[in-house]
Amino acid sequence: MGMPEIIAIDGPAGSGKSTIGKLLAEYLDYLYFDTGVMYRAVTLAAINQGIDIENELRVSSLAQNVKIDLQTPTIKDGRNCDILMDGQDVTWDIRSPEVDAKVSIVSAYPKVRQALSEKQRQIGLQGKVVMMGRDIGTVVLPEADLKIYLDASLEERAGRRYHERILRGEDADYDSLLAMLRERDRIDSTREFAPLKPADDSIVIDTDGLNIQQVFATILELTEKHHVK
Ligand code: DC
Repeated sequence: MGMPEIIAIDGPAGSGKSTIGKLLAEYLDYLYFDTGVMYRAVTLAAINQGIDIENELRVSSLAQNVKIDLQTPTIKDGRNCDILMDGQDVTWDIRSPEVDAKVSIVSAYPKVRQALSEKQRQIGLQGKVVMMGRDIGTVVLPEADLKIYLDASLEERAGRRYHERILRGEDADYDSLLAMLRERDRIDSTREFAPLKPADDSIVIDTDGLNIQQVFATILELTEKHHVK
């Protein structure tokens, strides 16, 4: 009997996966791996290189070739980790509204998913990992010891994103964040390959009205109870 070695946390944008995953990984001294940053980095690379996001072939080839690394944070500015793309720090660039608006298109491409999922799986199988995404429990690591699906209403998630942006000193508009999340939910959950959905054996937590500490306490209890045989 031991603690779960592979923990998958899936859920829609703004459900709190990254924050909770970071807390849990730190508490357990596990690797923190937010897979969404890989889809974001490929999207940013396409934008930077002037590649049309609708050009599936070119975007897919970019996903196979771009080097993405997640490292321990070197700057204390609210980041969970440093995201390097071909050696360049893109931690905040991948969170831009332009990337937000285009990332769901990129992440629906089967060859992009295949390239990135393979890398994620290799890392996940090494164990002692908390991996966040949309399809970790269903596709990337179906053998995960503990699968959690974090959910929240569209309004709650838009509110969280709004406050995150304001805290970072950026401009934010609640209504456009709401519209953007609605559209991303639609694309993420209706795409043909690895759509956003809870795995049959995942534990679904509705986080509406709960703060970070409350969600973290719930997940910690599940983790400690969920001993692997
Ligand atoms: O979690 P996030 O908002 O940073 O994710 C960005 C996009 O990447 C999201 O629209 C869906 C996609 N994604 C995915 O398809 N599969 C994953 N495992 C992680 C993210």
